[in-house]
Amino acid sequence: MVIKKLQDNVIQNANVTEFALSYDSVKYHTWYDNLNYLINVSTETFNDDSLVMDYSCGTGIFSEKLNLYNCTPHIVMMDASLKYLRLAYEKFKDNPKYSFRLLDLKKGIEESLVDNLEGKLDGIVSTNAIHLYPTIDETIKSWNGLLKKGGKLLINSGNINNPKMKTPSSFLIDQTVNQIFNLSIEIVKNNNVYAQYRDKLYDIDYFEKYVELKDRYFLPIRNIDYYTDSLHKNGFVVKEIKTIDIKANVKEWFDFLNVYDEGILGWIGGVKKVTGEIATLTDIQNRLDIMEEALNIIFDNKNHFNASWNYIICEKI
Ligand SMILES: C[S@@+](CC[C@H](N)C(=O)[O-])C[C@H]1O[C@@H](n2cnc3c(N)ncnc32)[C@H](O)[C@@H]1O
Repeated sequence: MVIKKLQDNVIQNANVTEFALSYDSVKYHTWYDNLNYLINVSTETFNDDSLVMDYSCGTGIFSEKLNLYNCTPHIVMMDASLKYLRLAYEKFKDNPKYSFRLLDLKKGIEESLVDNLEGKLDGIVSTNAIHLYPTIDETIKSWNGLLKKGGKLLINSGNINNPKMKTPSSFLIDQTVNQIFNLSIEIVKNNNVYAQYRDKLYDIDYFEKYVELKDRYFLPIRNIDYYTDSLHKNGFVVKEIKTIDIKANVKEWFDFLNVYDEGILGWIGGVKKVTGEIATLTDIQNRLDIMEEALNIIFDNKNHFNASWNYIICEKI
């Protein structure tokens, strides 16, 4: 089934941005091997005629890798970010098997789709995104509506806690953000280079605002039951749950995190929209230096760490 390219104009008129290109470079990071298991499952599950949605497709890294394994179903790429979707469009616009849909979070999935895909999809893939959805039941319910009976739902995330399966020495990637935040307090207390920030540690109102800011950027980590309960409730049978340790390079993880210096360590120098201060270039450099130092403490100066990734393979009943 070929899906019409209804929204091409909206997407085409946007520019390819540095922001999206910067995210896209994570595909070269070791921790992006997290996609491999779902690529294996997809090659076994989908064929050239399948119709699959890459939900929260971002810049299209999953589909790009899938094609390398000669798995070429029809793909509807959907994302809430025009910037990311624009780059995905750039990659696949000349391929007739791809179509693109911008997700308007206020309208929801069905209305954003423009065309009616109810009961038409053979599969939905959601990689590295489910932990970001604020209304999980609604999303899973909508996915159910779009899939055919027996349609497959493939999910992964590095930010789901699976206490029964997680190896003791592995990390959930966003857990490192909380550790960086906590360590930043000790680093500022102990290193005179950062003495100018010490007063802020005793300004509870100020500090709480930056804890909230961090928690808005990096949502609290949930247990796997939160997701599987919602899947069961909304018409899916969970076929497989798998937890894999993915080797992550610490430097690459730092490179990824440093674009979020404001969200992680906004309290260093302040953020205008939060407490009115405008961080100087020195403040920003200090945030990066503290982040790097904290990562070295967390990972004991090692070059790599194990990141725990969870995979949930389901089928529509
Ligand atoms: C970390 S990226 C993952 C992108 C891609 N799936 C991948 O694995 O490279 C997370 C994606 O989720 C999207 N996203 C964020 N909040 C969302 C929401 N509430 N509903 C749907 N997608 C969302 C973002 O726009 C972004 O493209």
